[in-house]
Amino acid sequence: MAVFPQRYTVTAALPYANGPVHIGHLAGVYLPADIYVRYLRSAGRDVKFICGSDEHGVPITIRAQKEGVTPQQVVDKYHALIRDSFSDFNVSFDVYSRTSSPTHAEVSSNFFLRLYRDDKFIEQTTQQYFDEQAQQFLADRYIVGTCPNCGNENAYGDQCERCGTSLSPTELINPRSMLSGAQPVLRDTRHWFLPLDEYEPWLREWIIEGHKHDWKNNVYGQCKSWIDQGLHPRAVTRDLDWGVPVPLPGAEGKVLYVWFDAPIGYISATKEAFPDEWELYWKDAGTKLVHFIGKDNIVFHCIIFPVMLKAHGEYILPNNVPANEFLNLEGDKISTSRNWAVWLHEYLQDFPGQADVLRYVLCANAPETKDNDFTWKDFQARNNNELVATLGNFVNRAVVLTHKFFGGAVPAAGELLAIDREALDQLAAFPAKIGELIDNYRFRDALAEVMNLARLGNKYLADTQPWHLIKTDAARTGTVLHVALQIAAGLAPLLAPFLPDSAQKLATMLATDLVAWAAAGRPDALGAGHQLREPALLFAKIEDATVEAQVQKLLDTKNANLLANAPVAEAKPAVSFDDFQKMDLRVGTIVAAEKIAKTKKLLKLTVDVGLEQRTIVSGIAEHFTPEELVGQQVQVLLNLLPRELKGIQSQGMLLMAENADGSLALMQPGKAVRNGSPIN
Ligand code: MF3
Ligand code: ZN
Repeated sequence: MAVFPQRYTVTAALPYANGPVHIGHLAGVYLPADIYVRYLRSAGRDVKFICGSDEHGVPITIRAQKEGVTPQQVVDKYHALIRDSFSDFNVSFDVYSRTSSPTHAEVSSNFFLRLYRDDKFIEQTTQQYFDEQAQQFLADRYIVGTCPNCGNENAYGDQCERCGTSLSPTELINPRSMLSGAQPVLRDTRHWFLPLDEYEPWLREWIIEGHKHDWKNNVYGQCKSWIDQGLHPRAVTRDLDWGVPVPLPGAEGKVLYVWFDAPIGYISATKEAFPDEWELYWKDAGTKLVHFIGKDNIVFHCIIFPVMLKAHGEYILPNNVPANEFLNLEGDKISTSRNWAVWLHEYLQDFPGQADVLRYVLCANAPETKDNDFTWKDFQARNNNELVATLGNFVNRAVVLTHKFFGGAVPAAGELLAIDREALDQLAAFPAKIGELIDNYRFRDALAEVMNLARLGNKYLADTQPWHLIKTDAARTGTVLHVALQIAAGLAPLLAPFLPDSAQKLATMLATDLVAWAAAGRPDALGAGHQLREPALLFAKIEDATVEAQVQKLLDTKNANLLANAPVAEAKPAVSFDDFQKMDLRVGTIVAAEKIAKTKKLLKLTVDVGLEQRTIVSGIAEHFTPEELVGQQVQVLLNLLPRELKGIQSQGMLLMAENADGSLALMQPGKAVRNGSPIN
């Protein structure tokens, strides 16, 4: 008998409340965490699933500044949006709190004070950039300047996004404040540091020796390389006006560093929701603490937060930190600022009621050991080939045939043949197999096993052919459907952690409750005579046009980004006013337009330029139809030397603006102007 922990505390990284959540968040953190927790609950374990919004830190203040609102307005907006997205995707937190809550201010201040009183910090005065106009110290992200590495003039104080180099603000050439544009000056400021270096021997023992075999390779590897590179004291306070104030006299204008307060948010959220029991979940050695995070959070959850917990002294440490790699989207890194993402709230607008399809695809393709790519084609294929054709098809056939041949009542089993016993034996083995994979954070493999159970069902039906059998042997057909229905019944609880809506739908169709994990896979889940409900489809086919529309939406985004970021052409050498005056620029109206036969690009235009009607040949046939041009006013260069094109004399030129993607726009006067009017 395996020995289980007395209880579990499972946390999922607190998302920054500075934007909506996307498929990368779901696939990397919240979905695996939710599957784990739903499984634990089904297995009867005592578990609390903790999350909330991370509402402090510079990303929030920057977003507020960009949108011209207060930080509080930013976090209120996104906290609600994120909370609702999670609930729409059935992420079953026991609490979803926020770090702007009063409980959190109290818990995190007390945590800081305890470390302060126990002399766990070192105090240090350093020099930091100060904006004299805005009268405040500048966070690294609030300083821009020229990258010493690549010359990018808009590098941030902590990183150059063009060449990827990580920087410190004093390395920037010509630093400017993002608040006022002023050149910042260095000023002394006092801060509290957590001396990580002092914990190095302990970290080596705890992680490098202690978790070599049970932590994932990617997590263990990152920790080891951090520790091997040598740890340094890290400031846990900042000069900022948004955050939990440093609870010490003389520390006005200083707040706790967001990476100090946020992980304490797990504790305060637990305390807020379970004021009487929270300590058991954080301080009792019988509790197994598991942090679900993305790979960019590893050092904070494996090194810094554990050092904080250790320094405090009363808390348990994480037993595991199953961090995932990243999910890409159609071959590109997901990016909030470039809007390169599938946002959860938008997905549900386009695929209402289909949270499970996305949960399925994201788990089946989860970035557990390496970065993975989400593509709409794969989304469609997995839905159509796996959910519809494998899982849905099996369940549907078992239920429909039972209705057709036995009035929807589970037929009695006669004598079991080898093939029946074989199928039931295999069914019985699935719960332990899937459970063990989930216990080891191998959610992809676990889901693949659930699908294997559906495959087992399909193979059993294909081998026994009840639809033919009914013509010769009704009793044997009854036995076959009896067995097939046990498999269908077994699928419901095993599917439930992954696809909760579909599992519930299946259980409802079978007129049963979702049983506990230990009761799943029994050969007598549905007794003879048990009446099923009407068959209903669990999944629906997704058509080409549906995913093509999603791909188009992404292409539009890509194009918009391209346009926004395309370099503007270099300036040309100066010309004299006299040279400019030589050009006869006029307003004209296109009165006729036709394609020139046997050419792709050329249009023959007749333009009324006031003095006369001119024939102008223009290479714009791929951009405009003749119909849309007729009647438009345009700018014309009248005195360009005439030129013969395809046997037609072109007497002048239309002026066009050319976009970065090559598309053209007519240059039109802002109001109707008499033809022939000069343009000066
Ligand atoms: N907000 C952070 C991020 O999105 C995660 C914070 S996790 C916590 O990367 F532990 F600090 F809460
Ligand atoms: Zn650079």
